[in-house]
Amino acid sequence: MSESSATQYDHIGQAYESMKKIPGAILERNNLRAVITPYLTLPDSQGASVLDLACGTGYYSRLLLQWAAPRCVVGIDISPTMVEAAERAAAELDEFKQGRLKFVVGDATKPLPAAVVTSSDEAEGPFDVVLGAWLLNYAPSTQDMAGMFANVASALRPGGHFVGITPHPAEDLDAFAAFHATPAAQAEMRRFGVSIAYLDPPVASGEGYHTRITAHMQPVEISFENFHLRRHVYEDAARRGGMTGELKWEKVRLPRDEDESRRDYGVGIEYWEGCEERPHFGIMVVEK
Ligand SMILES: C[S@@+](CC[C@H](N)C(=O)[O-])C[C@H]1O[C@@H](n2cnc3c(N)ncnc32)[C@H](O)[C@@H]1O
Repeated sequence: MSESSATQYDHIGQAYESMKKIPGAILERNNLRAVITPYLTLPDSQGASVLDLACGTGYYSRLLLQWAAPRCVVGIDISPTMVEAAERAAAELDEFKQGRLKFVVGDATKPLPAAVVTSSDEAEGPFDVVLGAWLLNYAPSTQDMAGMFANVASALRPGGHFVGITPHPAEDLDAFAAFHATPAAQAEMRRFGVSIAYLDPPVASGEGYHTRITAHMQPVEISFENFHLRRHVYEDAARRGGMTGELKWEKVRLPRDEDESRRDYGVGIEYWEGCEERPHFGIMVVEK
């Protein structure tokens, strides 16, 4: 990477949330909501405690509070700029004022701050749920990703769940990457407003690709770099990191018809062509 994870986001800062308005981002949000909501309420109907790892501007941290009634949400991000933006965006919320929503600077590749993970305040860690929305794409290898999963595992109670938004879990990542270099893919990506370049050479371990993501926003383009690794890397890394429970990839659900597409996404159903075979994201759920 030309810049560290922290500094590339320090530059992007709050402009990042403008990306959340494009239909593909709304699709991601709706899918995450459907997957994570059942984990936000515990069997005794108490609210879950949630760690939002790589929380960025706290976009999902705030939404979690709308989707259900978690007991608390703690957001951690490596970028102080992102944490400040998250605090600003949450400042008027009651949950933030009451301390049930808070943000901390921290690095998911290092042991997490002890005060967060093993809080003596039972309202927080160890957590029932860890959300990692676009976190694992910063790991260049199984080994690095296993380190992140070890930190996830240490933050979760036994039986707790990790929910991750990742790049598409491609079985044949070489074919997936090759497709992205074709004119058909370029046209598809222009429609989605976000383009992905699979950079040469692939990562040295052979586990996947270095990628550059560019979101063509007005007035500024946002561009950042990360990694897209083979599907089995995510699975092996979770196991190596100590996540031994059920592991599943959720199927990305697209709008069913023209009406749903217009109503929920503001675009016709033809917009989603190609998305079923090549959604830009995957959602993995792993139990500790
Ligand atoms: C693409 S953004 C996603 C933000 C948020 N989860 C969302 O989906 O809106 C990725 C975030 O990961 C953070 N990040 C990258 N590496 C990290 C690390 N090692 N530990 C914690 N956060 C990290 C970046 O600072 C950035 O805010």
